[in-house]
Amino acid sequence: MRRLLPAFLLLALPAAAAEGEAVFRRHCANCHAVAAGAPAGPGPNLGGVVGRKVGGDPGFDYSPVLQAAGEAGQRWDTMMLERFLVDPEAMFPGLWMGANGLREAADRVAVARYLTEQRSP
Ligand code: HEC
Repeated sequence: MRRLLPAFLLLALPAAAAEGEAVFRRHCANCHAVAAGAPAGPGPNLGGVVGRKVGGDPGFDYSPVLQAAGEAGQRWDTMMLERFLVDPEAMFPGLWMGANGLREAADRVAVARYLTEQRSP
């Protein structure tokens, strides 16, 4: 999977990914699994979320706003995740996430990179 990433990102990844995993554990893992095949919890499984359509965990019952975004063809990428985490409800009014974004830009970047690494092969 790393093979697919541009070289400049690859160089920055190992440190950022460890950092991102720690932020994810602290702020997201209560609701989101990332292991492949793990069932959805209170939130959808985020393993492979990058490249996936919005609202794309088949085992999760999404809000109308995320379903509509997915049906309109929106897909998650790293930058979109970073923007989402500034203020999730501002991006998707009516979102059911029940959690705020991340205040620190460095945390948003680290988590978005970590999730980018959790792609299914
Ligand atoms: C209190 C539980 C909870 C926490 C904590 C939480 N989320 Fe969520 N998340 C959800 C729920 C529920 C949804 C589905 C929302 C909906 O259907 O509107 C969601 C949706 C998402 C989605 C859209 C997924 C998709 O398949 O389109 C992303 C991305 C996401 N969360 C990332 C995060 C990240 C990153 C964190 C940590 C910074 C986080 N969430 C923290 C519950 C949570």
